[in-house]
Amino acid sequence: MSDSWEKLRADCESCTACELCKTRTNCVFGVGNENADVLFVGEAPGDNEDKTGIPFVGRAGKLLDQYLFAVDIPRENVYIANILKCRPPKNRDPLPAEEDACIEFLRRQVRLINPKVIVCLGRISAMRLIKPDFKITKEHGVWFKKGNFYVTAVYHPALLLRDPHKKEEMLADMKAIKEKIDSVI
Ligand code: URA
Repeated sequence: MSDSWEKLRADCESCTACELCKTRTNCVFGVGNENADVLFVGEAPGDNEDKTGIPFVGRAGKLLDQYLFAVDIPRENVYIANILKCRPPKNRDPLPAEEDACIEFLRRQVRLINPKVIVCLGRISAMRLIKPDFKITKEHGVWFKKGNFYVTAVYHPALLLRDPHKKEEMLADMKAIKEKIDSVI
């Protein structure tokens, strides 16, 4: 049976597959261009995202917007989603069982978008989408070919807020992402 955005969103918003459904205000489905060439995947919604239902709207999201602007990747051209669609209490790391329960929603998003490039925002996303032993400090900015997709990871913007020394590396990675997008479309 063919999937659709309407069905996927309805399935996600009514999901009770893990305990996080009990504490969510909103399911944070994803936002952006449904035909995007590039998909950014974060970890899980935080407080602002839970309240608004939109990913990356807090301080980390504002920083991500600045990087997109700096390297000339229009926000309208990207899609942004998370591994988990519901907020873990007190922003703790997602549990493996929660990721397992939620990952099919992201897979369905990937199939509908069919992006050329997937960018993991942070370690948790990279460990799930690239490889379980991914080391963000060593391997950020490295490209992996996964099926039809070019996949890379960058530092999570929330980490950059805590450790601004990493901002230079982030800018270099984002410039390389822009070049990769331009070379594959
Ligand atoms: N951090 C994430 O990983 N995702 C969000 O949506 C917000 C903050």
